[in-house]
Amino acid sequence: MAKKQTNNTVTVEPAKGKLGILLPGMGAVATTFIAGVLAVNKGLAQPIGSLSQMGRLRLGKRTGKVNKPLINEVVELQDLKKVAFGGWDIFKDNMYEAAVHAGVLDINLLNKLKAPLSKIKPMKAVFDKNYVKKLNGTHVKKSKTKMALAKAVMNDIKKFKADNKCDRLVMVWCGSTEIYIEESRVHKSLAAFEKGLQNNSKDIAPSMIYAYAAIKMGIPYANGAPNLSCDIPALVELAKMTNTPIAGKDFKTGQTLMKTILAPGLKARALAIDGWFSTNILGNRDGEVLDDPDNFKTKEVSKLGVLEQILEPELYPELYKDFYHKVRINYYPPRGDNKEGWDNIDISGWLNYPMQIKIDFLCRDSILAAPIVLDLAIFLDLAKRSSMNGIQEWLSFYLKSPQAPQGRMPIHDIFKQLHKLENTLRYLGGHDLIHHLGLDYE
Ligand SMILES: NC(=O)c1ccc[n+]([C@@H]2O[C@H](COP(=O)([O-])OP(=O)(O)OC[C@H]3O[C@@H](n4cnc5c(N)ncnc54)[C@H](O)[C@@H]3O)[C@@H](O)[C@H]2O)c1
Repeated sequence: MAKKQTNNTVTVEPAKGKLGILLPGMGAVATTFIAGVLAVNKGLAQPIGSLSQMGRLRLGKRTGKVNKPLINEVVELQDLKKVAFGGWDIFKDNMYEAAVHAGVLDINLLNKLKAPLSKIKPMKAVFDKNYVKKLNGTHVKKSKTKMALAKAVMNDIKKFKADNKCDRLVMVWCGSTEIYIEESRVHKSLAAFEKGLQNNSKDIAPSMIYAYAAIKMGIPYANGAPNLSCDIPALVELAKMTNTPIAGKDFKTGQTLMKTILAPGLKARALAIDGWFSTNILGNRDGEVLDDPDNFKTKEVSKLGVLEQILEPELYPELYKDFYHKVRINYYPPRGDNKEGWDNIDISGWLNYPMQIKIDFLCRDSILAAPIVLDLAIFLDLAKRSSMNGIQEWLSFYLKSPQAPQGRMPIHDIFKQLHKLENTLRYLGGHDLIHHLGLDYE
C-alpha cells in the first residue's frame, strides 16, 4: 500500500521504513513475543492469536459476494519484516538466555533463532525494589532524581533509534506487576508530576518513568500490567500535548478472557449469576511476583472490576445484586508458565432453579499474551500515523482493565470491544461503519 490514505476526516501516514518496538521488562511475555515474530518472519510458525496479522474485516453489505479483506488490506500496517526490538530489564540476560530461562518455548525452536535473539540485550532498568518486592535487580540505572532517570531512558531511546535505523517507535510495558497504589496528588497534573520527578516522589513508580519518557518523546505507550503506569491524569495530559496515543491496562489473556466471553452471553439470556469463583496455579516469575500480597492486590483489583461492569447489578438487581466474585492466584512452581485456571460459576435459571458451569483452562500465559503485545504495538503505530492521541479505547479489546477517559465507564464486554475495534479500523480505512441499522448493513 505504502501511500497516504485519506477519507473525509482522517489522514493515515504510510508505514514507511522500520518500526522499533521497545519493551520495559524482558521476561516471559517479551521473549515469547520477540522469538515469535522472528519465527514467523523465518516461516517457522504462524502468528496465531494476532488480529493484525490474521484477522479479516467485513466491509459493506451482506448481499452478493461478501467482501472480507484482511485487516492490513483495509489499513496499512507495519510490515513485520521491518521491525527492531529493544528494551530494559533488571537482569542482564540476552533474549536467548531470557527465553530459555522463561521456559515457554521449545528449545529446538529457540536454537534456530539463537543468533538474532542473542544480539538483543536489555538496557539498564529503572527499578525500585519497593515496587516489586520479590525481585533483586543488578542491571539497574543509578541517578540522583527520578527526572534524571527519565532523561536517561530518553537517551537510551534516542541511541536505540539511531543504532537500529528506526523511523518510528512504540513502547509496551511487559515488566513485572508493581505494588498497588492509588492515584494521588502527584499524579493529578503534569506540573505536579514533573515536580515529583524532580523531588523523587515515592508515589512515582518505575513504570511511570518509562511511560513519561516515551510519551514526552511522542512515542505511543501501552501498559500490559495492572499497575497504574500511564493511567493517571498527568500522563493523559502529556499524551494530548505531545499527540501521543496510549493504552492500558493489563493484557487480557487466560481467565479474564474467558470471563469477558462468557459473562456477556449469560447476561444476554437474562440468566442470573449467584457466584463466580476463580482460582489459578501459576509457576513463572510473574506468579512469584504476584505471591506478594501488595503486588497481588494490583492484579486482584484489575481482575475484579470486569464482572461488575458487564453485569450491572444496579440495573438488574433480581439477577446480579448479590453475586459473589472471588479471584485467587497461587504460586506453584512446577507448572512454570503453563497456568491452570479453574472457574466455578453458580447460575440460576427459570424459577430460580440453580445450575453450575465449570471451566478448567489449561492455558499458556505467555502464548496468549505475545500476540496481544504485537497487536498493541502495530495498532498504536497506526493510531500515531493517524494523528490519534490520548487514550485509545478501541484497543480495550486487548486489556483486562481498560483505561477510559475520566468520568467515562470502561467497556469490558469483549464483543462490544471488538465492534469498536473493527469500526475504528473501517473508519481509518475510509469505509462505512457497520451499525446494524437498516437492511443494507445489518
Ligand atoms: N502472561 C500473561 O498472560 C499476562 C497477562 C496479563 C498481564 N501480564 C503482565 O505482564 C507482565 C509480564 O509478565 P511476564 O510473565 O513476562 O513476567 P516475567 O516476570 O517473566 O517478566 C517481567 C520482567 O520484568 C522485569 N522487570 C521488573 N521490573 C522492571 C523494571 N522496573 N524495569 C525493567 N524490567 C523490569 C523482570 O526482571 C522480568 O524479567 C507482568 O506484569 C504480568 O502481570 C501477563
